[in-house]
Amino acid sequence: MTDFARRVTRLSDCHDIADLRQLARRRLPRAVFHFADGGAEDETTLRRNVAAFDDLTLAPRYLVDVGEIDTRAEVLGLPLDLPVIVAPTGLSRLFHRGGESAAARAAARAGTLYTLSSGASTRLEDAAAASGGPKMFQIYCYRDRDLTAEFIDRCKAANYHALCLTIDVPVSGYRQRDLYTGASVPPRITLGGALDALRHPAWTARFLAGRRITIENVAHRVPQGRGASASVMRYVAEQFDPTVDWRDAAWMIERWNGPFVVKGVMTPDDAARAADIGASAVVVSNHGGRQLDGAPASIEQLGAVVDAVGGRLEVLLDSGVRRGSHVVKALALGAKAVLVGRAYVYGLAAGGEAGVDRALALLRDELRRCMALVGRRRIADIDRSLLGGGVALARRKRNVAFSTEDPEEHVDAKRL
Ligand code: FNR
Repeated sequence: MTDFARRVTRLSDCHDIADLRQLARRRLPRAVFHFADGGAEDETTLRRNVAAFDDLTLAPRYLVDVGEIDTRAEVLGLPLDLPVIVAPTGLSRLFHRGGESAAARAAARAGTLYTLSSGASTRLEDAAAASGGPKMFQIYCYRDRDLTAEFIDRCKAANYHALCLTIDVPVSGYRQRDLYTGASVPPRITLGGALDALRHPAWTARFLAGRRITIENVAHRVPQGRGASASVMRYVAEQFDPTVDWRDAAWMIERWNGPFVVKGVMTPDDAARAADIGASAVVVSNHGGRQLDGAPASIEQLGAVVDAVGGRLEVLLDSGVRRGSHVVKALALGAKAVLVGRAYVYGLAAGGEAGVDRALALLRDELRRCMALVGRRRIADIDRSLLGGGVALARRKRNVAFSTEDPEEHVDAKRL
């Protein structure tokens, strides 16, 4: 489907995640779209995340009864209908006014876990109240440990099932697209952006009429009034602590005393350290290529991490998942489930809550179809015997493609 010109103007035109991306691009002002779509520096890791899935092939088994496909899985002690978890992404109300609450409701309908970002534009208590489904809270260890402790205690009170510590942001990645588009948080409509705002009247009208968009969970920590959103962003930026280490993570686990996930693990060593301090799971993740450019694709690191620690804790994966077959490949290498970031963010931007429903339904249907096509009826039947050969050849081809194509073109490729 790479050379087929698609015309996507409504949600019902969207037949895969790439279509939702196209629709999101139509609906969002340029700066907002590229804030979600982009990665760090040259975006090599961003591209590699998706391309590395293509390097893996699937060797199907036939004449297996696949009349009833069962996608249920147990993750972090939770029974899920779908091993596709909604990843933490900040400021969801930028993409649609329904924001985090809409995404949490859609996740619950799909029978999966929703992760609220610590950079959410909705208070964690409000997101918890919005949906009856299971929820996880993504946390950082802040300079002010009292703020971290406050979050842990609020999550307990609001009945979050798990806490997810993101470890791959010792400093912020260098997102160059945002520099060119002038993306800012809180968003503001500048003279340069006015024309673009006029081209997206629905988004602009909602933005101007709606509640201010800020990091709600820390808003109470800065004086309110004029300029409060900018102060919140400054406050959060100052809270990032590059000195955080494994002792801090261990302290958080002790204080939380429940299912605890370490997100951003890329090596067997870090996975082993997470197991040593008592984490319940790790997410093999490079933050969707938004942090360290030059990092390997998560799927390339997954097998080694599973081999090192698979028995001691659960291994999850994110970064680059755009297809049901990607889910199958991750599970084949030993992941218990995957998380999706952009895949659902595109859906949210394309059509609000219904758009997230659509994103998750597309992934579910693709997963079910792929399981039937490879002759695996249940999630537990998916193992490494499913992976075929041809990796080296695919990789050689991909490297040639990268060196001869215009990188801009590649960023625009439908499957990103
Ligand atoms: C993110 N991600 C992220 N991760 C995190 O731990 N805290 C956060 O606040 C955010 N915010 C965020 C915003 C946006 C717009 C995106 C796209 C991503 C990273 C996210 O949780 C996940 O690791 C990646 O999105 C996975 O890669 P894919 O699925 O987008 O390829």
